[in-house]
Amino acid sequence: MRFYVIHSIGILGFVSFFAFQGLPVRSVDFARGTDNITIRQGNTAILRCYVDDRISKVAWLNRSNIIFAGNDKWSLDPRVTLLTSAHLEYSLQIQQVDVSDEGPYTCSVQTQHHPKTYQVHLIVQVPPKIYNISSNITVNEGSNVTLVCLANGRPEPVINWRHISPSAKEIEEEEEYLEIFMISRYQAGAYQCKAANEVASADEKRVHITVNYAPAIKYAQSADVAVGRTGMLHCEVSAVPPADFEWYKEDKRIYNSSQGIQIQTIDSRSSLIVTNATEDHYGNYTCVAGNKLGVTNASIFLYKNILPTIPNPVQEKIETTVHSKQKGPGSMRDSGTGLAGVTISLWLLVATLVCLIYKC
Ligand SMILES: *[C@@H]1O[C@H](CO)[C@@H](O)[C@H](O)[C@H]1NC(C)=O
Ligand SMILES: *[C@@H]1O[C@H](CO)[C@@H](O)[C@H](O)[C@H]1NC(C)=O
Ligand SMILES: *[C@@H]1O[C@H](CO)[C@@H](O)[C@H](O)[C@H]1NC(C)=O
Ligand SMILES: *[C@@H]1O[C@H](CO)[C@@H](O)[C@H](O)[C@H]1NC(C)=O
Ligand SMILES: *[C@@H]1O[C@H](CO)[C@@H](O)[C@H](O)[C@H]1NC(C)=O
Ligand SMILES: *[C@@H]1O[C@H](CO)[C@@H](O)[C@H](O)[C@H]1NC(C)=O
Ligand SMILES: *[C@@H]1O[C@H](CO)[C@@H](O)[C@H](O)[C@H]1NC(C)=O
Ligand SMILES: *[C@@H]1O[C@H](CO)[C@@H](O)[C@H](O)[C@H]1NC(C)=O
Ligand SMILES: *[C@@H]1O[C@H](CO)[C@@H](O)[C@H](O)[C@H]1NC(C)=O
Repeated sequence: MRFYVIHSIGILGFVSFFAFQGLPVRSVDFARGTDNITIRQGNTAILRCYVDDRISKVAWLNRSNIIFAGNDKWSLDPRVTLLTSAHLEYSLQIQQVDVSDEGPYTCSVQTQHHPKTYQVHLIVQVPPKIYNISSNITVNEGSNVTLVCLANGRPEPVINWRHISPSAKEIEEEEEYLEIFMISRYQAGAYQCKAANEVASADEKRVHITVNYAPAIKYAQSADVAVGRTGMLHCEVSAVPPADFEWYKEDKRIYNSSQGIQIQTIDSRSSLIVTNATEDHYGNYTCVAGNKLGVTNASIFLYKNILPTIPNPVQEKIETTVHSKQKGPGSMRDSGTGLAGVTISLWLLVATLVCLIYKC
């Protein structure tokens, strides 16, 4: 709107006319070339022209085509009208300006002694508009991906791509085509295309890329449980699409709600829950996670925990600690329990020694 108001206010006028009206005199240098009027597509343009007197022969031309000759309309275009309400005015009004209207317009004034022409160049501006953008896609990790974002507008909009992701580093790409070679899981997410020119606020659209990859173990930890108590083993993976889980105990598949074991899977995390542990429950468990791109597994242990009320805790604890050193190669973060066990054992050992010395 701002452009329209500023640029559409009169451009052309006779020096004599302005002087006559008492308006500020604007000296029109006919040699300097053309005036430009910038107008937004769809708005109404008014090309001002004033004549010396009523006897002059006047005409408006669009390039070399006559639109009006005097008051006779030659153009068939209904959007074009003459404005003659003001004194000696002979202005051209074009409604619903379109891109095809861009170009030179001439107001030709034929007085007997001073034939003059006023030329004005109509420049049509169009707000940026994205008219073709890639749809959301799902690809496998390692694929090459090309996103496209095509926009029109006048002046030609600048296209800009951005990866909307707090975890990923930002990419700034001034291209209609965004090429991603060997896409990684970290490049998944929303990509925003922005088309901007100075005419109006930028147009923005988003494309979502889903990157599939095989499960990778994020977390799998051994645990211990006392007989009769409840123990849990957790196994967490990252995977797209989400993984399906299976649990095995020494190569035998474990099914949900059998052998006193529940399996609970929430999103990418599966938990094996033993309520009322028995001797048969202790041992080596394997969590297997798979999706259509691959399978992975981790082996973790459910250890027997000796409750502190049992007599001679020192010996039992040392036995448990030794056990934890046998943790399988698949167990991911098992140092926690092991260290805790050692610390407790040492503490109990010291306590026993102190007790022996003081004969308690
Ligand atoms: C009109 O615009 C053209 C480019 O579109 C420019 O070269 C010319 O200088 C402009 N004329 C005036 C009077 O602003
Ligand atoms: C000016 O001429 C062009 C083609 O020469 C045409 O497309 C356009 O509609 C015309 N505009 C007006 C306002 O007469
Ligand atoms: C969008 O652009 C792409 C690449 O140039 C082209 O293959 C596709 O046909 C276009 N789609 C539409 C709806 O124009
Ligand atoms: C991805 O592009 C690179 C470089 O152009 C090419 O070497 C590779 O084979 C492409 N990968 C696929 C999966 O098309
Ligand atoms: C693209 O994906 C996003 C996020 O998943 C979703 O909000 C949007 O509706 C999708 N767009 C299309 C065209 O499917
Ligand atoms: C196992 O069974 C319980 C109910 O017996 C159910 O709540 C749970 O979702 C099941 N787990 C799986 C992985 O199907
Ligand atoms: C746990 O199992 C033992 C032996 O099978 C049984 O005697 C006991 O009642 C069970 N306890 C609970 C709470 O189910
Ligand atoms: C676990 O993975 C190893 C190597 O990837 C494989 O040899 C083994 O068979 C798998 N175990 C299970 C239970 O899937
Ligand atoms: C645990 O079981 C898995 C699968 O049967 C096996 O690959 C792994 O070697 C076992 N770990 C130990 C420490 O026995």
